[in-house]
This record gives sequence, structure tokens and C-alpha cells, in this order.
Amino acid sequence: MNDGEIVELSSEFANIYSVEDGERILREPELVTETMEAAQKGGFDHFMLKEIYEQPQVARELIHLYEKSEDLDDVIGALKQAKNIYFIGCGTSYNACVSGAVFFNRIANRAVFPVAATQFMAQYHQSISSEDIGIFVSQSGETKDVLNAVEIAKKRGMRIYSLVNVVGSTLTKKSEIWLPLACGYEISVPATKTFTNQLIAFLYLAYRMGDKSLDDFDKLPDLMENEIKKSTSIVQKALPFVQDWNDLYCLGYGLSFPIALEGALKLKEITYSHCEGMLSTEFKHGPLAAVTNRYPVIFVSTLNDIPLIISGINEVTCRGGFAIAVGPENENLRANANYLIPVTKSTDEISSILSVIPLQLISYYMCLARGFDPDFPRNLSKTLTVD
Ligand code: M6R
Repeated sequence: MNDGEIVELSSEFANIYSVEDGERILREPELVTETMEAAQKGGFDHFMLKEIYEQPQVARELIHLYEKSEDLDDVIGALKQAKNIYFIGCGTSYNACVSGAVFFNRIANRAVFPVAATQFMAQYHQSISSEDIGIFVSQSGETKDVLNAVEIAKKRGMRIYSLVNVVGSTLTKKSEIWLPLACGYEISVPATKTFTNQLIAFLYLAYRMGDKSLDDFDKLPDLMENEIKKSTSIVQKALPFVQDWNDLYCLGYGLSFPIALEGALKLKEITYSHCEGMLSTEFKHGPLAAVTNRYPVIFVSTLNDIPLIISGINEVTCRGGFAIAVGPENENLRANANYLIPVTKSTDEISSILSVIPLQLISYYMCLARGFDPDFPRNLSKTLTVD
């Protein structure tokens, strides 16, 4: 359905009418290829856990889809020619935009503006033009804040590309080109598999933009599978250090900064504990004052950033705080943090994607320990169609 339409639905028929004049609208139906099985928990206690476990498989499918897609050559060509590139989204999708911008800088030497959709108007509206491309990122493709930004961008002539999970959603219809996230249904309110596939999509584009080899890519789904298997028990052992706190931080730097933002968002969303995600280097500029005895601070690190992250860890531990590190197995990181959740060693880009998995699992198990339902957190809905 489109905006301004109403449907009369029965087991026999579905008639669409215009709200404005009541006229019947005739339209060819589109076939939804998802099965009923995809909308069931399939033996898992919650959709969230099922969707966390589906990440390697949907990653595999996305990589396969992108590697055989000829349309992507045009997308890469256009991105290379664009004057400015913007990545625009909300919530988890915004966090993916920040990762995307770091990937583009590191791999393709290309500066990108990642921006929260609602800030797009205030920050960039006067500066954009038809020489620019915006990649609008959304699981649902129906988020009103994102669609508002699309309208503003269109009026300025900007080219509208998008990265969307729901086929046939409003965002796909408003885009010149849309790239699928190919995750199937994501039913649980906290986004998980769509986040990792958003990161994979951006990483793929960055590799192609930078004319770099895609070899690392094919290994990623297996690494993700392994990460889920090995993290679960290690994460569960970390629960006593965090689960009773109503306030904590999740910090990262560079590639792990957006991962820390996403980890903090997951924790807030389903544990109802306030968790702030921020740059580890900013912590000493004020928030450090919050640290008391055993106050938990989660540090996310990639291999190259370990020395800087350790410096942040020491600021916390020397004041009695409790530092949990999520990063590659490393002697110094293990020695300096109070608890290490090791992430498989790989390139820093791939490790950053892997490191969100333990954070998703901490949120999930902490949510259960606090007696809440991860799939349907209070006050939230899966799709936000209001301003
Ligand atoms: O459907 P979208 O990706 O546009 O949704 C944007 C946010 O509302 C969404 O990512 C929200 O932050 C998630 N529930 C977080 O897990």
C-alpha cells in the first residue's frame, strides 16, 4: 500500500481505496517470498536470540548477492564521481552509518558524512546539491525521520540511494537505487542481524570503492558463527559484573566507536539500564567522574587501538571501576582489564563487526537476568512512523 490508501481485507479479497475520494485502486499484487517458518521462533526462546544466530547465514547470503550483482558496478561508479557522500539513518541504522564512514575513510580514502536523519536538515540542508549522493539506511524503510530527510534531500536534487531490509517499503520506492540487506524478517524490536548486514554492505562498498581485494569477506560468515559459539559462555560469566547496575558506559575508538554506540543502544533498549556509548578518549573529559567502586565500563577495541584503549582502561581501574574489554586476545589487554571477552583476530574492519556479537549477547542475557522480554521492550515499537 501507499500513503493515502485504505484496505478492505477479508479471507477472500483485498480491495484498496483512495482515502481522498473513496475510488477503488487497481494494482498488481507483489508476491512475498518469505515462508511462515521465517516468522516463527524455530526452537529459540526469543526472536532476538534466533536473529543473533541467523547473522552468519544472512551475511553469507548478502555477500553472495553483492558479489554476483552487476548493478553494483553502477553504484560504485556513481559514488566515485559524487562530490559529497552522506550516510543517513536513525538508531541502529545511524550507528551503521558511522561504521560505514570509518570504512570508507580507511579503505577507500574517501570522506563521508554520517548523519542522524533528523539532524540532516539543520546540518546539511543548505549545502547539498545534485552532485551529492545520500545513502539512506533503514531496516524497515518506513522510519518517518528518514523519509522526511529523503524529502528534503530530493528537493535539493540530491541523488537518493538506500540500504533497506524490507522489500517494497516506502524508502525503496522513493530511491533511485536501493540495495537489499537480505536479512528476511527481523521481528525482535532490537535490531541485530540487520546491523551486521548494514556493516557488511558498507564494507563491501568500501572495498570496491578502494579497488581492494574482497578475500577477507568470504571468511566473515564463518568467523561470525564461531564468535557466537565461543562468546555465549564467556558473556554469561561477565553478567554478575554488570547486571545489577542501572548505569554504565560502553566506550570505543575509531572502528570500535560505532560498535560501542550500538552496544550501548542494545543495553538501554532491552535491559532498561542506562548505558552511554561514547568515544573512549572523551571519557576523561567529564564522565570519568561517575566512576565509583566496581562501576562497570565496557571497552571495545580493535588490535591497532589496544594501547589507546588500555590507557582509558587504566583511568577507570585506578579509580576502582571495573573494566570489561571486548577485543582481540592480547596479553596486555587481558592484563589491564578486569575481564576480557576475546574476539577472533582478523583485520580491524572484520574484528569490529565481530565485536558487536558479544555486546548483543550481553544485552540479551542481562535482559533475561533482569526479568524482561527482549523482543518487545516497553515503550518501543519496531517501526517508528511518527515525527
Ligand atoms: O527501521 P529503521 O532501521 O529505520 O529503524 C531505525 C531505528 O528506529 C532502529 O534502528 C532502532 O534504533 C532499533 N530498534 C534499535 O535496536
